[in-house]
Amino acid sequence: MSDITKGAPGVPQAGTPASFALDFGKAWEYAPAPESPDHVKIAPKYELFIGGKWTAPQSKKYFDTVNPATEQKLAEVAEASAADVDAAVVAARTAFEKYWAKMPGKERAKYIFRIARAIQEKARELAIVETMDGGKPIKESRDFDIPTAAAHFFYHAGWADKLEYAFHGRKARPLGVAGQIIPWNFPFLMAAWKIAPALACGNTVVLKPAETTPLTALLLAQIIEECELPPGVVNIVTGAGATGAALVDHPGIDKIAFTGSTAVGKRIQRAVAGTKKRLTLELGGKAANIVFADAPIDQAIEGIVSGIFFNQGHVCCAGSRLLLEESVHDVVIRKLKDRMATMRLGDPLDKNTDIGAINSKAQLERIKELVASGELEGAERHSLACTIPEKGYWFPPTFFTNAGQAFRIAREEIFGPVLTIMTFRTPDEAIEKANNTMYGLSAGVWTDKGSKIFHMATQLKAGVVWGDTFNKFDPSSPFGGFKESGFGREGGRQGLGAYVEVE
Ligand code: NAI
Ligand code: MG
Repeated sequence: MSDITKGAPGVPQAGTPASFALDFGKAWEYAPAPESPDHVKIAPKYELFIGGKWTAPQSKKYFDTVNPATEQKLAEVAEASAADVDAAVVAARTAFEKYWAKMPGKERAKYIFRIARAIQEKARELAIVETMDGGKPIKESRDFDIPTAAAHFFYHAGWADKLEYAFHGRKARPLGVAGQIIPWNFPFLMAAWKIAPALACGNTVVLKPAETTPLTALLLAQIIEECELPPGVVNIVTGAGATGAALVDHPGIDKIAFTGSTAVGKRIQRAVAGTKKRLTLELGGKAANIVFADAPIDQAIEGIVSGIFFNQGHVCCAGSRLLLEESVHDVVIRKLKDRMATMRLGDPLDKNTDIGAINSKAQLERIKELVASGELEGAERHSLACTIPEKGYWFPPTFFTNAGQAFRIAREEIFGPVLTIMTFRTPDEAIEKANNTMYGLSAGVWTDKGSKIFHMATQLKAGVVWGDTFNKFDPSSPFGGFKESGFGREGGRQGLGAYVEVE
């Protein structure tokens, strides 16, 4: 039995029909180039950040956060009970009334700008901790997550004193206290994505990071403390689903912003129904990446690869379904295999790593279960034969051919490095297949013809449609879903609307 099958049932062995690897000799071997975590200080224990103070939880409970690449414990983190959440909401309300809502926009802007600068100064440390706590490759946390988070604070600092222009001369009032619940796939970026617009519009915040990745939100709390924001403007409460539910149910909350699974999103929607609380939900996706025969194929291969293997496929807008025009099916599969064979899976802190660790054991089990269902339903599986480290949670980059639209791998969010490939003959068939999903977060179109991109964009039921590119983000560009991918937009002028009452 080869290394890759160790402890990982369902992972094909090198040399079996389901696995592939190209023999490039030594051409693709790199020497290890790990980022050193030596200068990074992770405390053994973290308390809750409430009212500007680090506060022990009334629950007296703590939970461990581990490094999913090594299974080593990184720190103990406080578990906030309903009473702790209440203290955070009270602190946020006091800060709202006493300082933040009263403060002129140009003063709020200075604080938000200061946070952005501090993130840039600490970018290296933040990237390392993000990678250690969540398993994503350092080149992604370093080049994407942390700089994009800083960009969100810079962008929203710019809006804080210009809100009347955002809403065409109408007065925009803050809503009050925003309860924000974020997932584990982009922990720091999601915190920035949620906190920056809320603060720019004059709201105060209680944020709950995900239980497997709480550390960078706690480092953000330290940054907020160093930037001397008035106490209680931002509160960070750590914990799992029960802590999130306590935040959703708290009567002192004016707005809930949630990013995570569709199942929890639906539960939250039911919980806030009939209350004064405003709600935005950013949920799952099953994006179609559509490649026409006239597409620049080599560019498309890069888009396909980054669309599904970026962050191990832990991306709500991942291009998890690939729709190929029939005549280019074989050439795309061949080039995709060649490209995948150059990918490196392993130590997320290594600067050459393309595929890091799966975020948690539970997520790895979910991926394996869905992949097994794909095989059972009769799709053909192709997994890269690569060495899987002994410790940690890993899944090799994988794609399925001969999949039917009704297969679970074509319908359900796998949230792992697993691509489901199908074909089409006409643009109408591509549109029908792409829209044949309960989700509607994003889509991609690859073609030489601009007019075809525009036509497809008007027909695809997705919040974002990328043309000849994939997974590109900018703070000025609104992001959000159709159908069961949720509602509300984040980013851009539209994103501000979720945090104000316009008169
Ligand atoms: P989840 O939806 O349970 O977790 C997201 C956040 O919600 C976490 O902070 C969690 O503590 C919190 N939460 C959990 N239950 C809650 C409740 N009842 N009330 C309030 N907050 C609650 O997602 P999970 O279980 O980690 O992942 C399950 C699946 O969800 C994944 O396999 C993936 O398919 C999908 N997912 C989608 C995300 C997206 O960005 N669209 C992000 C994370 C997961
Ligand atoms: Mg962790």
